[in-house]
Amino acid sequence: MIDLTPDRASLDPIEIASRDEISALQLERMRWSLNHAYENLPFYKASFDAAGVHPDDLKSLSDLSKFPFTVKQDLRDNYPFGMFAVPREKLARIHASSGTTGKPTVVGYTAADVDMWAGLVARCMRASGTRPGDMVHVAYGYGLFTGGLGAHYGAEKLGCTVVPVSGGMTARQVTLINDFKPTTIMVTPSYALSILDACREQGIDPRETSLQVGIFGAEPWTNAMREEIEQAFDMHAVDIYGLSEIIGPGVANECVETKDGPTIWEDHFYPEIINPETGEPVEDGEMGELVFTSLTKEAFPIIRYRTRDLSRLLPGTARSMRRMEKITGRSDDMIILRGVNVFPTQIEEQLMKVTALAPHFQIELTSAGRMDAMTVHVETAGALDGDAKNAAAADLAKRIKDVVGVTADIQVRDVGDVARSEGKAVRVIDNRKRD
Ligand code: DLL
Repeated sequence: MIDLTPDRASLDPIEIASRDEISALQLERMRWSLNHAYENLPFYKASFDAAGVHPDDLKSLSDLSKFPFTVKQDLRDNYPFGMFAVPREKLARIHASSGTTGKPTVVGYTAADVDMWAGLVARCMRASGTRPGDMVHVAYGYGLFTGGLGAHYGAEKLGCTVVPVSGGMTARQVTLINDFKPTTIMVTPSYALSILDACREQGIDPRETSLQVGIFGAEPWTNAMREEIEQAFDMHAVDIYGLSEIIGPGVANECVETKDGPTIWEDHFYPEIINPETGEPVEDGEMGELVFTSLTKEAFPIIRYRTRDLSRLLPGTARSMRRMEKITGRSDDMIILRGVNVFPTQIEEQLMKVTALAPHFQIELTSAGRMDAMTVHVETAGALDGDAKNAAAADLAKRIKDVVGVTADIQVRDVGDVARSEGKAVRVIDNRKRD
């Protein structure tokens, strides 16, 4: 893979400013954001008043912990437009999360918010190794999901040629990559694997494509998966993190020169890690739930939003800003199987070690008598006979038992038989009977 480390002169100065400069900017912006939320949004006025705090109580960054959290239910309770701090006419854009249960979560942006967001996605892309003039294939879904349009505006802002493909029609994705010769692809990691399969089906060697960088996010993926994708395509695979409630993609992004967890763009989003049980902030370096406060957003300021994503804060490396550890799971995805906590990424990590199996998988949970049982549906990497399938299943079952600590029934299917998604992968099918 070629070295794509960006020129230091091309970075935004704040990316490499001193910690003191970053903290001073954060404090000034945090004051603004708390005041803006309090004065323009009845929800925050009520929640701050109920907690007995006022924006003027913020004397230092650590005072933020006196302010109440915001949770997804608050957004649902204020559906659709109750969380906006500007009149509806001032909104340039609305996005929404799909919401598997209940109403979607609606978020809004002023023109200035869209511009700030585009600037940050451009920063993410530059950190990933993309440069002005590059061609960018955007296969994140366009529409209410923030992935497609978020990536699109960022790529334009950086000065790239955007190919707005969106998700789906996998064979055509390959044709376009082959014919247009983009150097960057932006897509969920699970859908990148489907594109990889389609490449091979069309007799195209993925290592020979023009792609040099993949900017992957919107779902958890492991370093083992990174290795698989980098080898398969002969390109850099970097992690982009974000969520609609905070802005969309572009809250944090890995630097291509280090690939050691996403750097958080702390000049716009203030991160905290809390103990999810007590709500108390924990020290940098300790695992817990990621909480974000927006520092500059106009339409949809968000104060201490509990993401349910589990990570820890790490010191800056390629940039002065802090990093977050690559997300291995969110509290919602945690499976508790006979008392053992399991995240789908732990299964992914073991699956990647069994070369006879493809990296596609789905976990099915069922009730077996009074106990819960886990079946992992996987598929072969090529044609395998019955004995070879049994051996691969036994190998994976042993790894999962030894490393993750749970017993899993492994169902080895044929190539293409595990369900694919064109956006975020559905990793867990919960068929457990509820009382
Ligand atoms: O997924 C925004 C996005 C689009 C990020 C494209 C990156 C690329 P939501 O649909 O609101 O927004 O889902 C947000 O997805 O809380 C995480 O649980 C998960 N997630 C996003 N990025 C990553 C990542 C978009 N890099 C939720 N690693 C978040 C792990 C991720 N999980």
